[in-house]
Amino acid sequence: MAIFLPDEFVERVRSESDLVSVVSSYVQLKRRGNRYWGCCPFHQEDTPSFSLKPDEGFFYCFGCHAGGNVFKFISLIENISYYDAIVLQAERLNIPLPEREKTPQEIARDKKLAALREVHELAGKFFHNCLTVTPYGKAGLEYFHNRGIGDDIIKEFNLGFAPDAWSKLTDAFAKRGLDTELLLESGLVVKRQQGNGEYDRFRNRAMIPIMDERGRVCGFGGRIISDGQPKYLNSPETMLFNKRRLLFGLDKAHRHISQAGFSLVVEGYMDVISVYAAGIKNVVASLGTAFTVEQCKKLLRYAPAIYFCYDSDRAGQEAIARALGIAGETNAEIKVVQLPDGKDPDEFIRKHGVDEFRQVIGQAISVVEFQLKHILAHSDINGLEGRLRALTEMLPVLGSIKNTAERSAYISKVAQLLSVSENDILVELTKKGNGFSHQPRDNSKVRDVVHQVDDASRRAGRVIIRMVWNEPAIVEHFVSLVPIESLPEAIHKQILTVLYDKYRAGEQVTDIMSLSSLGEDVVAELSRALVEDLGQEDISLLYEACVRQLRRSYLVSQYKVHSENAERLRQQGDAKYMEELAISQKIKQEMDELQSVD
Ligand code: CTP
Ligand code: MN
Repeated sequence: MAIFLPDEFVERVRSESDLVSVVSSYVQLKRRGNRYWGCCPFHQEDTPSFSLKPDEGFFYCFGCHAGGNVFKFISLIENISYYDAIVLQAERLNIPLPEREKTPQEIARDKKLAALREVHELAGKFFHNCLTVTPYGKAGLEYFHNRGIGDDIIKEFNLGFAPDAWSKLTDAFAKRGLDTELLLESGLVVKRQQGNGEYDRFRNRAMIPIMDERGRVCGFGGRIISDGQPKYLNSPETMLFNKRRLLFGLDKAHRHISQAGFSLVVEGYMDVISVYAAGIKNVVASLGTAFTVEQCKKLLRYAPAIYFCYDSDRAGQEAIARALGIAGETNAEIKVVQLPDGKDPDEFIRKHGVDEFRQVIGQAISVVEFQLKHILAHSDINGLEGRLRALTEMLPVLGSIKNTAERSAYISKVAQLLSVSENDILVELTKKGNGFSHQPRDNSKVRDVVHQVDDASRRAGRVIIRMVWNEPAIVEHFVSLVPIESLPEAIHKQILTVLYDKYRAGEQVTDIMSLSSLGEDVVAELSRALVEDLGQEDISLLYEACVRQLRRSYLVSQYKVHSENAERLRQQGDAKYMEELAISQKIKQEMDELQSVD
């Protein structure tokens, strides 16, 4: 359980944090005027669009629109919650955390978690030591080396070996005074069926520690080093080891995923290790279970796209089909990487090299293409009946394609393939109505709309927000001329409404994250408003120009309302139309006056 952090504490940590030095430890920054620039760590770029203003205490990326204060930055780059970022920064600054009484249950739970973490950390070291230092590790080293895994990767992944004996770990840990119950709970040690005592779960296996995204050991996968069953033995589910949530390799991959713009999901531990060792570092694997929604969402925190590259055998392809179903429930941009010969990524790289593997990634296909191919692969299209069955399966896939041109192209492809007429497919498609299993998604378009071209009113909105932020009292003047609801940007309405409400309640807002409940977009837009170059020295002139800009768009909409009212009333023979007409004329006059000022 997290302790409550009072506002004064958060404020103190924030004011003692130096944004420039925090960011500099991750990003190379260059100073230009009162602002710093660098290449954004949250998306791939070569020219700096990541900007921060130390005196304002905010960063904003003009490329990917990430933005916020120092805690937001830490939480994004370290992949921790906002809360944890505050705690981490407080620790770095040696500011003691506020105390709160915990319930006995919380204390017990924290203690157990900490103890389990320690046991896993120790076990990681134990196995690694066995592999690299002791004579027991010889067989393991041979195994890894034979698979082309060198000592540097053994070190980087903290790979290990469980000795070919019954109780090396059990004995060693008992000697260290570790509690037997705890060892049993960790799953590293198992109770004997007959008689007393315990023995090691992992014996004579090459050990692969599985870390959470912060690099803490949570469990192990142990691979048998000769033939035998099971090929992999994993830790059981524990308080730490949750297979649905963990992704193997994420601790090392997450920064590379942000930079590459996509994560590469493979099936096996060894695939991750090989692919990573070959220099493609945005790679993770789910843990021998099906890919889950939790894992999918976790990956989407780093990049919007996910590429699946599973074994090219039938089981692998079935697994992809299931993974696509899972990922399809989120708004992931999905692609499928297809390996040409019956291999997994590890074998492919060893046989063909990493350059060819990169090419294969470059040729990743869309979900639609994969689904059509997948249906084709298990259909017999020699006979009419088989072709019709394949078509029935393909209809929902075709129906899921939103883009008309793309859809026609696929329809004609399928028609050719199955020797049926395009028209028949179209008829079947409309008959099917909306019984389609896959929702069409076109994220790139949505994003285009969100990141539309910046127009003058949007900019004016941000300038006003910036000024109200610095000088809350002007909001009163602003709303007397421009009602907040009339602003062209919904997000600006949200921000100004909060600022206005707080102002009227006599509260001062100094931390942009106090608006974080309104969503990430709000925080990012606010950050942008606060770091953006105003391009104008005279603040009051700028303020007037922005008010004019926004008032004009307000007047335009009002003019439309009242002139349409007037016209409607006139047609109905209602004499009140004269009033509406007068109002609209007055608006028109002000519009003209405003025009003449600029
Ligand atoms: N797996 C598992 N238990 C098994 C078999 C497999 O947990 N008995 C999981 C492991 O995470 C493994 C993944 O499923 O990495 C993929 O299995 P598979 O393709 O059989 O293994 P590879 O990764 O190809 O392993 P290797 O290259 O070592 O043969
Ligand atoms: Mn393999």
